[in-house]
Amino acid sequence: MKGLILAGGKGTRLRPLTVFTPKPVVPVINKPFLLYQIEVLRRVRITDITLSLSYQPDKIEGVLNEAGDLGAKVHFITEPNPMGTGGAYRFAAADPRETTIVFNGDILTNCDLKKMIGFHKANKAEATIALTPVEDPSRYGLVASGPSGAVLEFLEKPKPEELQRVAANTINAGIYILEPSILDLIPEGENRSFEYNVFPDILARKMPFFAYVIDKEYWRDIGTPESYLSAHMDFLNGTLTGFDIDRDARSDVATAATVDRLSVLGEGCVIKPSARVLNSVLGPGVHVEEKAVVEDSVVWSHSRISNFAEVRDAVIARSCYIGRNAVVRPGTVLGDKASIPDYSKA
Ligand code: GDD
Ligand code: MG
Repeated sequence: MKGLILAGGKGTRLRPLTVFTPKPVVPVINKPFLLYQIEVLRRVRITDITLSLSYQPDKIEGVLNEAGDLGAKVHFITEPNPMGTGGAYRFAAADPRETTIVFNGDILTNCDLKKMIGFHKANKAEATIALTPVEDPSRYGLVASGPSGAVLEFLEKPKPEELQRVAANTINAGIYILEPSILDLIPEGENRSFEYNVFPDILARKMPFFAYVIDKEYWRDIGTPESYLSAHMDFLNGTLTGFDIDRDARSDVATAATVDRLSVLGEGCVIKPSARVLNSVLGPGVHVEEKAVVEDSVVWSHSRISNFAEVRDAVIARSCYIGRNAVVRPGTVLGDKASIPDYSKA
């Protein structure tokens, strides 16, 4: 069995964070995001993993090559132009023909794939899709399934009337196990969507298509800034467990500064006297000057928070400058190299 991670989207909803950093490698607790997915695959000994790329492929490859030993054989395949999720699978997974676990490249989960693989085999399924319950399915693929787990309906980004008609709150969690027969439903070289074309086609052909519900395990799509920040909070408050957090980086924290036990600091951070870092993640080389406060926030590498500045519930990308006494308000998301002048309220 091999792994395929669909990592070719533009990450538009995560802008401005994804202007210079493609979504698959945005840092999550100071690690490129895809490393979490590779780890989940590795746990079930899937070490032959293809990354299906389209947008900024060289950057993604560069970041992963620098990440050290990934514990897996990772292949990079770049589409000549975006082929859609299904077309990308046909392009990247046709040779050799083998059962493939496909991941959307922006979902964070600690789900145990062993159980899903067992479920797929027990049902002799041609396709198995992971589902998770959510409060508002309208932003996702709504999936209705029967008591035996058979998929009954797949509605991508359902309209209000469809939401009313289908009595389900389970959505496509973006993890599929596909037999090679699914490749035959997708014409070579053409743009196809799993969600709009391939899944409806599998249903129309009445092929064995099953839904595996992950309701106890953690699941989140990190594709918006709010969700990206929430994913960090989930790590820090213990809602998401099972991944190692590197808390051993060497930083220069003044004795009179406060860094609470939940916060994570990257290598070479400098925290000056009376500064406070609470429930936050700082990337490598971040400076927090005297009496500044960073709380419930994520700050990427080499950004500087000046004296008396306050940052709360915010995401600040790389090499930003927050001036003296500036206030960065909750919900703010700053792209790389943003500069907030002294005394400003952003
Ligand atoms: N290689 C490649 N080529 N990858 C692509 C392409 C493409 O043309 N288009 C999208 N992708 C990748 C994206 O990078 C992302 O990792 C994944 O496919 C899904 O695309 P998104 O743009 O994030 O879709 P979504 O979040 O609106 O919806 C999808 O995910 C939901 C769960 O998070 C759908 O699969 C929904 O059904 C699902 O509920
Ligand atoms: Mg998404």
